[in-house]
Amino acid sequence: MKGYSENYWAKRAKQYNKTNWVKDDSFIDAFLGMIPIAEYPHILEVGIGTGAVAEKVSEKIGPLTGIDISQDMIDKINHDGITPIVANAHELPFNKDSFELIYMRNVIHYIDDPEKVFSEIYRCLKPEGQFLFSQVVPPDDSISKEYDWLVGRDIHYPTKSEILDLFSAFHSVKQDDFVLEKQSIMNWLNNTCQSEDEKENIIERHRSTSGAYRLLSNYKESSKDIFVDIRHFMVSGKK
Ligand SMILES: C[S@@+](CC[C@H](N)C(=O)[O-])C[C@H]1O[C@@H](n2cnc3c(N)ncnc32)[C@H](O)[C@@H]1O
Repeated sequence: MKGYSENYWAKRAKQYNKTNWVKDDSFIDAFLGMIPIAEYPHILEVGIGTGAVAEKVSEKIGPLTGIDISQDMIDKINHDGITPIVANAHELPFNKDSFELIYMRNVIHYIDDPEKVFSEIYRCLKPEGQFLFSQVVPPDDSISKEYDWLVGRDIHYPTKSEILDLFSAFHSVKQDDFVLEKQSIMNWLNNTCQSEDEKENIIERHRSTSGAYRLLSNYKESSKDIFVDIRHFMVSGKK
């Protein structure tokens, strides 16, 4: 699992909700705004984490089931409308044609085999069921390599075109960007890094980024922090 197994998430679970983007209301509202207002009697979140999106879904749309590989992440969920289950997105423990709505936010960059996860989601959706997806992407596909290096975690952040390829089996595909502006790199690092060395290394990488990255991300630096715009690519499609 690219080294990002249950153990990694067990360490991140405690601080996870302190990262600014996680509970950002405007982002979650824009994400849920991608799908029609309708009845969705059976809903699944893949990689539910601490339930930040799920809380809103259960209030605005209806009760749901969420799977996640990390017991420690889902231990943070305490909500009547949410049924969390420990499971791996590569093998969803549900029958085919089970859900009217499946959604997933910021999980695919931690996944070994994105095609397999997308095929599992497709299998578990009812015909005409809705899949809603969001993912942090580089500010532009052209600087994908620099972005992966900059984040410093040996992770590939899929580009928009790679994501759209994953949607090839779906129809009625719609897409939009949501940009979280002026995001604090220190907030992100303080709540996600597992050592001071890792933090220093990623700050150094940010300080040596290209002009292209700086322009595209609206890069600003102060003595104590770095601020950048973070782009999220939101896509919906139907089975
Ligand atoms: C960045 S968090 C996103 C959590 C949540 N979707 C959100 O937007 O707040 C990524 C989540 O994916 C989960 N995850 C990673 N690999 C997984 C896998 N193979 N199957 C299920 N969950 C996985 C992690 O445990 C973690 O909770």
